Amino acid sequence: MYLGIDIGTSAVKLVCADTDRILASSSVGLQTSSPQPGWSEQHPELWWQATRDALTHLAGQIALSEVKAIGLSGQMHGAVLLDCDLHPIRSAILWNDSRAVQECEELRAAQPEVGHIAGVLPLPGFTAPKIAWLKKNEPANYAQLSHILLPKDYVGLRLHGELATDASDAAGTLWLDQASRNWHAGIAEASDVARDWLPQIFDGHSVVGTVTAQAAAETGLRPAVPVVAGGGDAATGAVSLGATELGRGFISLGTSGQLFVADRAYKPNPERYVHAFAHTLPDRWYQMAAMLNGARPISWIGGQLGLSAAEVVALAETVSGDRVPIFLPYLTGERSPLGDPHIRACFFGLEDATTRADICRSVLEAIAFCFADAAQSFGDTINGLPELAAIGGGSRSDLLLGMIASVTGKPIVRSEDADSGPACGAARLAACGDGALSMTDLALRPPAVNIFEPSDPSAMSERLLRFRRLYSAVKAVD
Ligand code: XUL
Repeated sequence: MYLGIDIGTSAVKLVCADTDRILASSSVGLQTSSPQPGWSEQHPELWWQATRDALTHLAGQIALSEVKAIGLSGQMHGAVLLDCDLHPIRSAILWNDSRAVQECEELRAAQPEVGHIAGVLPLPGFTAPKIAWLKKNEPANYAQLSHILLPKDYVGLRLHGELATDASDAAGTLWLDQASRNWHAGIAEASDVARDWLPQIFDGHSVVGTVTAQAAAETGLRPAVPVVAGGGDAATGAVSLGATELGRGFISLGTSGQLFVADRAYKPNPERYVHAFAHTLPDRWYQMAAMLNGARPISWIGGQLGLSAAEVVALAETVSGDRVPIFLPYLTGERSPLGDPHIRACFFGLEDATTRADICRSVLEAIAFCFADAAQSFGDTINGLPELAAIGGGSRSDLLLGMIASVTGKPIVRSEDADSGPACGAARLAACGDGALSMTDLALRPPAVNIFEPSDPSAMSERLLRFRRLYSAVKAVD
């Protein structure tokens, strides 16, 4: 039995699985704090506490002593800042934090080739500009900085005591030379980072260490269980769907959104903010459009209207699409394909007759339109794909998956266990590290549960055009 631990933004999710099915799962919610507008932080201790709590829930379902190996997954790009005693200096600065705008401009000026080396142009969500921000704005914290980790790797440190990461999480820092999969000294220096602050990079299925006696005492896990490096949540989501081979694609509808296509080569496309990143497995890369807002606007509007996410979706299904307002879903700015940390959300076309159901439908439609924009930014790559798998909480909605199929022109496949993708992928990497699954096994796709075929694209194309024009108009006012 293999344990996958996913350090998400809204929850820590655990999955216990054997090589072909999930045996037990648990989840503990996380809060994000925003001490200033545009900031997004979580304290690393919260992740460890939530992991321990989720393990306690899991122990109520299965015997943790049966776990043979552990894999890690996590939200990417967060800066976990440690002092020389390996203690967090401050809260981690997360992937959806937009404070480091100026530092991105400075990094681009200092390293004009950064987009081609690091696979994407600098944006505030990535790790590198956050360190340059820290140096300028919190010099006392910067002076203590001795190690930088990604979120899942902090939980790894608590489990096995090593400073380590994997290629796919290293990929999201901006410090990785994606082609050679090594840290790039020039980009590190240009963002005020010493090379020896960065952890060793492993393949996702490589064993990094074993559960320490202290971690075992704190968690109920058996001491000396191997822990593999795992991957950033995009890559582990891919592993859960067999998206490790050329041309396998999927969409993820979590707090963030992703359109992901696996590749055997590094193919940068920085102009459209398509991320070209190292995959967690050796000799594999991927291209990804990463949308900061994903399916999050569903729970956001639910919060405003006093509805659960399921109620928002159910209400949206009660109305047809032609009279509803148009929503720009950019609650936290947008990464792909706009590269625009400043833009914010808005509703257009509200009228006296507009209902809560209309608003809910416009929110779902906007999420689908973001995937249309993402697909467009891939150019020809997307045309060759037969279909896209779907994972994440938003993939529960038939209406949303049908809309995405129509606006991208691709059949969307909902697979088994679509909700727990990254944690499942982490468990599969652990099984691979233990020798129970091969790289070929990792490329197998889980069975499809539903397939959503594209309907007449012209039904939504007029509204998609207006959505795009609305962005330009709002941008001009911004
Ligand atoms: C990917 C991205 C998000 C985070 C949080 O580039 O920013 O997917 O990993 O899920």
